[in-house]
Amino acid sequence: MEPVINPSAGVDRTLIYIIGVSLVLLFGITALMIGFVIRYRRSRHPIPADIRGHTGLELAWMLIPTAIALSMFYMGWDTYLGLRSVPANALDIQVAAEMFAWTFTYPNGKQTSTELVVPQGRPVKISLSSKDVIHSFYVPAFRIKMDAVKGLHTYLWFLPDHAGTFNILCAEYCGLGHSEMSADLKVVPPADFDAWLARKEPEPVQAKGEVNPEILKLFDLSTFHSVQDTMSFYWKVDGPHLHCKLRAPALGWVAAGFNPTRGMQGADFILAYVKNGKVYAEDHFGTSPVKHEPDEKLGGRQDLTNVFGIESNGITEVGFTIPLKSGDSADTPLDPEHEIVLLLAYNSGIDDFRAKHNYRKAYRVNLATGAVKPMTP
Ligand code: CUA
Repeated sequence: MEPVINPSAGVDRTLIYIIGVSLVLLFGITALMIGFVIRYRRSRHPIPADIRGHTGLELAWMLIPTAIALSMFYMGWDTYLGLRSVPANALDIQVAAEMFAWTFTYPNGKQTSTELVVPQGRPVKISLSSKDVIHSFYVPAFRIKMDAVKGLHTYLWFLPDHAGTFNILCAEYCGLGHSEMSADLKVVPPADFDAWLARKEPEPVQAKGEVNPEILKLFDLSTFHSVQDTMSFYWKVDGPHLHCKLRAPALGWVAAGFNPTRGMQGADFILAYVKNGKVYAEDHFGTSPVKHEPDEKLGGRQDLTNVFGIESNGITEVGFTIPLKSGDSADTPLDPEHEIVLLLAYNSGIDDFRAKHNYRKAYRVNLATGAVKPMTP
């Protein structure tokens, strides 16, 4: 098999060549002009010479610039061919763009949204599509950029020859969330990639149709308080427990968070999604303003009970019960007598705990009285 030539090196080479030639011309022509101004100044040359025709000179100033321009074209064309010729052994990843997230689908069906993991040393083909407006898939580190247009199938490829984490950006203004439409490209050793690709989704908490009628009785919404909006939240304080139900126009995950200190930091999160008729739910904790992790990773434990969920007609509904005071270091105690901050979020498309949210709202809520005040973001 022919060795794969990395076209991103060609992009750099072409750029350096064009800038180099430009600099040589800039300084050469400027120096020549200054020299002529001094040498042929009026005090030395009171009568200007009238020179007409010089075949050798005329050929030189036609042929040399033509050769320079053609050499630039050749370098660009050669690199362009490299960028458009996908090696046969490339890993093909489907990338769907939508306002304002990427969905990466691997050949085995695995999907991610916030990270694109690829094996080091193997060419990667990116097959692009858009679900709505025009986006542009841009990885500066590998010198690749391509539009994603609805109804068109565009592609690009790159050779991830150095390991590390790099930015994936959207480079076409696509709406208010454009600047947040980013993801991480992680180039990892092939063995790590294989293990990552084979890693299964978490086990479902509760299969559809197995909801205990006793649980459903607890979730009689006529006895619940509620926040009703695009995404709704219903709750009831029941002794030391809080029964919650989330409802959102989403096929992806839905989540509620309680009492953040800044951004997502310090908040207790419950995230859930329904996939193939099964409910997946996790108890998370906000470890930074922009990140949350499963409780058990932080030395806590999953405190969810009575989990159930359904997804129909584009609506996801999930119910669960949590303790008001779990005593867990990775949970915040909920005081029903005082106002708490409630965060609601969902992702419209993808079933993955690591997917981004494209909807989020915050409220001040009194769990005991049901008083709700929306917070400005
Ligand atoms: Cu998508 Cu900008």
